[in-house]
Order: sequence, then structure tokens, then C-alpha cells
Amino acid sequence: MKTMPIRILPSILAADMANLEADCRRALAGAADGLHVDIMDGHFVPNLSMGPAVVAALRRALGADIWLHVHLMVERPDRYVEPFIKAGANTVLIHIESAGDIPATLQTIRERGARPGITLNPATPAAALDDVMGEALAEEILCMTVVPGFGGQSFMPEVLPKIAALRHRWPHIDISVDGGIDSETALACAAHGANVLLAGTSLFGATDLAGTLQAMRKGCAAVYGQELA
Ligand code: DX5
Ligand code: ZN
Repeated sequence: MKTMPIRILPSILAADMANLEADCRRALAGAADGLHVDIMDGHFVPNLSMGPAVVAALRRALGADIWLHVHLMVERPDRYVEPFIKAGANTVLIHIESAGDIPATLQTIRERGARPGITLNPATPAAALDDVMGEALAEEILCMTVVPGFGGQSFMPEVLPKIAALRHRWPHIDISVDGGIDSETALACAAHGANVLLAGTSLFGATDLAGTLQAMRKGCAAVYGQELA
């Protein structure tokens, strides 16, 4: 089986919002593969976070080469994909549980030049993807490993069999995990087939972000069965 590269993207929800640029630079200096940006609308999840203006500001501050991985936890992603892509999002992930025409929204993301991803809440089964993936519209499947809405929650190990099932079914697609990911839970996810790790608290809360990230990358690469470059 061809393996996918391990990628680690810190979730800026756990960054110091008063010093966001500095924290992003700290993560990137620590060899992060990009930044995960959580968008919450207070409806799809009971919390508010940031909007397209923050993505645009990050793009301006950090330059064109930084991968911005935007996770839309909003009720109507169809209304928001364009503003986020205009602001500079590289990947746009929508939730399969959100409203609107999901395949059409993924298609819009692709047409506007970004990479479409589909997200499953912990309770949503892998089979829910059949319609969306049948048309090969998503290039990444994000398995939430917490109920979305807040950073700093505990990892839900019951999601692991779903990750393994998805990897078995789609050997060549990015499979990401988000929520409660630290050096230990990342290993379990990689061992079940996840290759993209999204982690907020465990990285921005670490005294040595770069060291923690490097250890996570090495450990995941080992269990995922790939050589480190
Ligand atoms: C949860 C968000 C996550 C969150 C992860 O709703 O989608 O991206 O920032 O935070 P930690 O790593 O602290 O669980
Ligand atoms: Zn997220």
C-alpha cells in the first residue's frame, strides 16, 4: 500500500490570540506543515471563533507559501466557502452534517481553486460518505476525535475503528484527525491510518513546541510505516 506523507498542522484556536502572528511563526519555525484554522458560527457548534478577515490577515502576514487549512464548523458552509477562499484558504473542510448541497459545495471549493475536504463528527458513520466520495469530490477526510466546538477536550478512542475503515477503503486519500491530539493519541491515530494530525492544546501549550511536534512526527511516521525524509 502506498503510504501518504505525515503532516502536522497546529490548530491556532489554542494560540495566543493577542499575539497570533508570533505564535503562528513559532509553529512554522517548529516545522509545522501549515496552520489549522477553526471557524465556528455559534449555530453548528455552540461557540464563535474567527472569520475570513483573520484568514486574510494571516495570509498577508505569513506570505503565500503557508498552507492554511480552514475547518468550517458552520451551519451553511455553502455561504462561506468563497469568502474564505478569497481570503487565502488552501484547504476548505466542510462538515457532512451541515446544511446545503454537500457535493455541490465541495465542487465549488474545487472550482474556486482550493482543496476540498469533508469532515465527520464522532457519531457519524463512515458510510455517510458514500454519496460524497462516490463522486470523488473530497481530497481529505477529517475524522473528528472530539465533538467539535471547543479546544482542549479529551480524545475519543471509539473513533479509531472508523479511521481504520476509511483508510482501508481509501488508501490514497488524506485522512486527518482533530481533537485531543497529542504525542500519544496521534500515534494511535497514525497506527489506524491517519496521516494528517491537527493539534491545538498539545502544541501551543507545550513548553517546547518544535520538540513536541518533531517527536509526534517521528512517532507517527514510524507507526504509519514510512521512512522520515
Ligand atoms: C474542535 C476544533 C479543533 C480544536 C483542537 O472543535 O475543530 O481543531 O482546535 O483543539 P485541541 O487540540 O486542543 O483538542
Ligand atoms: Zn478543527
